[in-house]
Amino acid sequence: MSRFRSVIAGVGGYLPKKVLTNADLAKMVDTTDEWISQRTGIHKRHIAAEGETTSMMATIASKRALEAAGMEAGELDMIILATATPDLTFPATATIVQKELGMLRGFAFDISAVCSGFLYALAVADSFMARGQVRSALVIGSETFSRILDWEDRTTCVLFGDGAGAVVLKAEPGAPGMGERGIVHTHLRSDGRHTDLLYVDGGPSKTQTVGHLRMSGNKVFRHAITNISGAIARVLDDAGLNESDIDWFVPHQANERILEGISKKLGLPKEKVVSTVAEHGNTSAASIPLALDVAIQDGRVKRGDLVLFEALGGGFTWGAALARM
Ligand code: UT7
Repeated sequence: MSRFRSVIAGVGGYLPKKVLTNADLAKMVDTTDEWISQRTGIHKRHIAAEGETTSMMATIASKRALEAAGMEAGELDMIILATATPDLTFPATATIVQKELGMLRGFAFDISAVCSGFLYALAVADSFMARGQVRSALVIGSETFSRILDWEDRTTCVLFGDGAGAVVLKAEPGAPGMGERGIVHTHLRSDGRHTDLLYVDGGPSKTQTVGHLRMSGNKVFRHAITNISGAIARVLDDAGLNESDIDWFVPHQANERILEGISKKLGLPKEKVVSTVAEHGNTSAASIPLALDVAIQDGRVKRGDLVLFEALGGGFTWGAALARM
């Protein structure tokens, strides 16, 4: 069977104009800039404007990724959009983006794995491409978490922000070798026993409402470090690589202390960690492609670099991926 590599050909991001600072939040709930900064590393987050939706943000990020890849939407075979905050219960937000991009071929669908959604979407796209079924794909993470936050709950409303990130994948012949560009390996996990630690308390089938995000932050924190470290060890092992091979660590941006804990375990210096949590907050499925976009735009991540991604989200879902840029 022929084998193809999925090469990241272009990356794009979008953040809404409105910025909400920790000082702004201190006027809304019983919190302080000091508490939020010290416990999370977050200083501000972006919030979608009224009427600005997940598909609108995804469309802008996708256009930017396509431009970076030098491609037209009409050349795409597939769109996978990771989100926990779709425009509507159905159709899939991916099909709305497909329409907005003017893509009249191929297929589009959503993936629901919350904060791990981008990694799940990347792994699924990579599988389609490795078999030669799809030659080009758009993988998007887009979220309007501001719409599912309980703005009176200080333990959660200070953590999240809105935004979208997208990558264009192109199939190149051959398996991803040591020096060759492409997704090197992915490792996905889930454990449904922990649904009660991070969830939304509404949905069409159970409550006929949208609901609000609920989280036992401290318990999630402890699971995050252990589970993510395990996934990283596994993906490195599967790829026959080790920590010293990693050029850049582009993690899901949940909490600066989680990033520090994991990089310390990996023995990675701070200079190799791409952190956007201070400016973006936690943008769920959008956080990895948004951080990757920032690090490409500012010249840190370059062609040929080995990048490590990781995430953990509600479910729990979690995973890690390695890509040669
Ligand atoms: O992306 C999906 C995955 N999500 C994550 O990975 C998030 C993981 N969890 C975390 O990042 C952290 O657990 C949090 C940032 C959510 C919380 O930090 P923590 O150090 O675990 O704090 P805590 O929940 O143990 O709360 C400590 C104290 C509590 O007060 P008492 O009971 O000690 O009196 C809270 O009520 O901090 C209080 N607190 C706050 N105080 C001021 C909780 N939220 C706030 C707040 N402002 N916003």
